[in-house]
Amino acid sequence: MVIETKTNNLIDRIDIPSYQEKVNEINDMIVNKTGAGNDFLGWVDWPVDYDHEELDRIVEEADYVRANYDVLVVCGIGGSYLGARAAIEAINGTLPNGKMEIIWLGQTFDPTYIAQRLEYLKGRRFAINVISKSGTTTETSVAFRLLREMLEKRDGVEAARKAIIATTDKARGALFALAEKEGYVRFTIPDDIGGRYSVQTAVGLFPIACAGIDPHEILLGSADARRDLEDPNLDRNQAYKYAVIRRAMYATYHKAVEMFVTYVPGLVQIGEWWKQLFGESEGKGKKGLLPDSATFTTDLHSLGQFIQDGTPVLFETVLHLSHHRHDVKVPHDEANLDGLNYLEGRSLGNIQDRAFEGTLAAHTEDGKISNVVLELEEMNAHNLGYLFYFFERACAMSAYLNGVNPFNQPGVEIYKRNMFRLLGKPGF
Ligand code: PA5
Repeated sequence: MVIETKTNNLIDRIDIPSYQEKVNEINDMIVNKTGAGNDFLGWVDWPVDYDHEELDRIVEEADYVRANYDVLVVCGIGGSYLGARAAIEAINGTLPNGKMEIIWLGQTFDPTYIAQRLEYLKGRRFAINVISKSGTTTETSVAFRLLREMLEKRDGVEAARKAIIATTDKARGALFALAEKEGYVRFTIPDDIGGRYSVQTAVGLFPIACAGIDPHEILLGSADARRDLEDPNLDRNQAYKYAVIRRAMYATYHKAVEMFVTYVPGLVQIGEWWKQLFGESEGKGKKGLLPDSATFTTDLHSLGQFIQDGTPVLFETVLHLSHHRHDVKVPHDEANLDGLNYLEGRSLGNIQDRAFEGTLAAHTEDGKISNVVLELEEMNAHNLGYLFYFFERACAMSAYLNGVNPFNQPGVEIYKRNMFRLLGKPGF
């Protein structure tokens, strides 16, 4: 088992077996595709049913991009970029590392952010992976228009065509039509996989491969999770157990917030991906837990006060890594003016582990905050693939337990309609 779930406080009082019948029923709905949103269950078997020929093309094109460009600009928003970013930062870290540099556009209208990146790209050899299932998302389309114009003017239309890779619907939409007309390399977002469930498709895997991470490992990890989570028995199925805990924390103990916690700054974007997955899947019909995230010990010096002592609205889900990929020892200092010689020779990993234990005790014993600890051995591409699938499966179960369709997002459209009207878009 790659993920082990540990619990305490209110969670230990939940009668988990009493949910088994309902969980079996929902699992049948997920497997047999009979529930609400059943057109969007392609992700369930994707780790074993994925398009092998397309994966070969992804790897080949990523090799080409890595050999010919210094930077890949990923142009997408929401489910069309969060998973790739989460994976790349979790595995490669957040500093340049000699592998291909990846930068993110298409997820904001902010002119300063965009202008700074366009300026940065001026003297660099860059390729663009524009990702949009609908092909009409305004943030992404505007950024792509700017990038394409810059590339065509600087390097010529032919060179720009070679540097642009479009990931979109297989046969429809504005981006599909443009990619066809210009002859861009094209990857497909399957019809039956929604944005927030798409990290294991070309949406995530092409940028991931460009960053030098093996996409096969992500899929193998997801396939292992799929196998481990096939049996809905709550004694064994850690994802469904987690979903039941979420349901009980919300419906029985009336918690409003789930705080996703890691101790690793490189996992901040995993928190962003996780927030979209649960927030967009579950927050509807005026229901659902608000998914929030924090990085400890950093945020213990800010949000920590509220978590420990503020309004008791939340519970925590801590993703804890048992193994640190790197370690650093605290050196000796003769003068010891900082008083740190008691830590001399101790590794930072060891210190962090004590911080984790101390915080867990403070929050659960003194603060009476319920914690779910998801114990993951170490962060690598395989385990990350496992983790993605674990949360996807848990999220589908959790949303169905709350009685909502996990795969639509009706609320997202309302700001768009208002914005289009204010911008004078024809038809609005
Ligand atoms: O999960 C989702 O469905 C959304 O976050 C979409 O991925 C996001 O809105 C981007 O949509 P598109 O890929 O159509 O540009």
